[in-house]
Amino acid sequence: MMMRTVVVVAGTLLLGIGAGVAQQDAVKVAQDTMKANGRNMGTVLSPMVKGEKPYDQAAVDAALNQLDDTAKKLPTLFPASVKDAKWEGDFSPSPKIWEDKAGYDAKVASFAKVVTEAKAKIKDLDSLKANFPGIGKECSACHETYRLKKG
Ligand code: HEC
Repeated sequence: MMMRTVVVVAGTLLLGIGAGVAQQDAVKVAQDTMKANGRNMGTVLSPMVKGEKPYDQAAVDAALNQLDDTAKKLPTLFPASVKDAKWEGDFSPSPKIWEDKAGYDAKVASFAKVVTEAKAKIKDLDSLKANFPGIGKECSACHETYRLKKG
């Protein structure tokens, strides 16, 4: 009887720890994805647009593929389990992601559309210059409503 209680308690504890680990994994996936977005926009594409780096189609394609990958992840990137998670760093998801799911999904769809179009259109520096600001606008549009900055 004693033994059984111990086993059940230990099992419950393990389940709790497992859930905590899964939650922090989900936080890490989300943050790593967003940081990769930031790197590709800020250190790959933007310097080419500004003429600080030469145009490099392979680097552009790799960056756009990563953004495309983000678009595919976004619908499930913030599961309800991360709502009350610990978010290291300056940003966390706004509760609006879960309260206004339709609004969030619309931002995801809009971002995905712009990235798909950009992938089809960006073939040289001029087309990069023409399409880069539109991608940036999609990032900001989601962040404005669905991202919180710790103040
Ligand atoms: C549909 C919503 C959405 C879109 C689109 C989106 N983001 Fe985010 N982003 C978030 C949310 C929510 C957070 C806060 C949680 C987090 O850090 O994952 C965030 C956080 C970030 C952070 C901070 C990460 C950290 O931990 O320091 C960066 C950088 C970032 N986003 C860059 C981008 C860039 C660049 C784009 C566009 C290419 C983009 N995001 C598109 C929702 C979005």
